[in-house]
Amino acid sequence: MPWPRNLAKAIKTKVNLAGYTSFKIGGQAKYFFEPKNLKQLQQVLILAKHAGLRVFILGAGSNILVSDSGLDGLVIKLSNKSFKQLDCQGSCLTAGSGLKLNALISFSRNKNLSGLEFLTGIPGTLGGCLMGNAGAWGKAIGELVKQVGVLDYNGKLKLLESKQLKFAYRKSNLNNYIIIWAKLKLLAKEKKAIAAKINQYLLRRKQSQGNNLPNAGCIFKNPACGSAGRLIDNCGLKGMARGGAVISKLHANFILNTGKAKSRDVLSLMDLTRKKVKERFKINLEPEIKIWK
Ligand code: EPU
Repeated sequence: MPWPRNLAKAIKTKVNLAGYTSFKIGGQAKYFFEPKNLKQLQQVLILAKHAGLRVFILGAGSNILVSDSGLDGLVIKLSNKSFKQLDCQGSCLTAGSGLKLNALISFSRNKNLSGLEFLTGIPGTLGGCLMGNAGAWGKAIGELVKQVGVLDYNGKLKLLESKQLKFAYRKSNLNNYIIIWAKLKLLAKEKKAIAAKINQYLLRRKQSQGNNLPNAGCIFKNPACGSAGRLIDNCGLKGMARGGAVISKLHANFILNTGKAKSRDVLSLMDLTRKKVKERFKINLEPEIKIWK
């Protein structure tokens, strides 16, 4: 596609996506772009729209499975510092969507603001986290959101107030937007107490999920009746392998890449898991990870 001169150099072609994902799996993106600022992002969105090019917004790549055959579209990563700004007014934090959660958690701890600690150890960006209403230990980020600044896929800016936002278990109504920033409501607290909570959550996570091989977090959503991990475990699937992918022996809702896993290996384990859980418990598991193909 002939890109205008100001973008032609910056838009890379045939970029390997495996390195941009926590799973370390995936083929090439036809186009890959890290816009310098909002204006460039708006420009590229309009061009992509006119060209009928599919657009994928990549956060930390920690909740996706990218197809081995790559993506016939434009992958955009909001890695520039213009998408990573941080500011606090009273007990509210305004943060760019490209920020990693751990940066947000450290910043708010240093400002004596509490509320984000439960997200400790989740490797995502704020944008990805909001899109999927990420959570842990019975809480989710949606509960903290006051406002979100978004772009639609025509490049138009919008401000969404909390009453326009809908968050439910691992989902939001932000799917048709690109999240640019969010304002979160936190609570004043002593730094020491915040740090203690962070350490507590880190330890809990390490004990239940401490997988040291590449993975994408929980593969399936928890069904209404409990934990997907427990159901998969009860089907005896821990340690089950396909190619280079294996179901974690520590937490059965994790699939690990032992080195050379392909997306087809992961998909095959996911099929097997759904089939076994359906047979045994009559429950349909739904993927939690996003599958990009
Ligand atoms: N369990 C098993 N076997 C397993 C895994 C879990 O018996 O292989 C049991 C545990 O012993 C526990 C119960 O299942 O009694 C629940 O397990 P856990 O506390 O690990 O929580 P989970 O329901 O499996 C959810 C989220 C996690 C989040 C944790 C902690 C989902 C799909 N998973 O897991 O989120 O970190 O709670 O709050 O909602 C993610 O979103 O990627 C993710 C990992």
